[in-house]
Amino acid sequence: MNKFLIAPSIIASDFTHLADEITACESAGADWLHVDVMDGHFVPAITVGPLFIEACKRATKLPLDIHLMISNPDQQLDVFAKAGANNITVHVEACSNLLKTIEKIKSLGCTAGVTLNPITPASALDEALSLADLVLVMSVVPGYSGQAFMPEMIGKVEGIRNKLNALRSPAHLEVDGGMAADTLPLMHNAGADVFVAGNAIFKFPQGVAAGVRALRVSNV
Ligand code: DX5
Ligand code: ZN
Repeated sequence: MNKFLIAPSIIASDFTHLADEITACESAGADWLHVDVMDGHFVPAITVGPLFIEACKRATKLPLDIHLMISNPDQQLDVFAKAGANNITVHVEACSNLLKTIEKIKSLGCTAGVTLNPITPASALDEALSLADLVLVMSVVPGYSGQAFMPEMIGKVEGIRNKLNALRSPAHLEVDGGMAADTLPLMHNAGADVFVAGNAIFKFPQGVAAGVRALRVSNV
């Protein structure tokens, strides 16, 4: 059994070879596929939507981990669930009633994740911690792949890990942004167990599969 999970961030891949990129991750032992949905409003960039997720679903059996960086996520949850999401993560900054949103995600048959921007204090998630299946700590400002890891987020992961333990919550604690062989161990030691990686996998000089493997052995 793996002691942590790796979730390649597919928006950093070469879309002209989408199925091959996904298969390479899968055969190298990636655990989930992370899809970053950006709407040009909650964050400046626009990426992909439900049609892309449907295509990923046809290309893999890996669980699809959908990170919604969109305003008004409540209006879109059923569309993303139907497209094939296994987990849907929403930003606390985008939700008017986070607990209700979590319940809606679960009622659609998905696991529910909650996340927060680097500037948002961990306490913003306090109410949601006992309900969420996953907590995602952003270790870059959401919007683009390839940014530098923010070491200030190590303490945030430690704090959330302590709170989850105190609640005896089995929730995953995921980190997204700037994860590579040198930064992953810092966040693993802080208590995270799922690692999203874009550039460290899809721009790895020796190829995608080698990129996944380099992360896998980074903490041994
Ligand atoms: C950032 C996205 C990330 C990003 C990660 O807004 O949520 O998932 O693609 O890319 P890297 O690993 O290159 O920082
Ligand atoms: Zn993401």
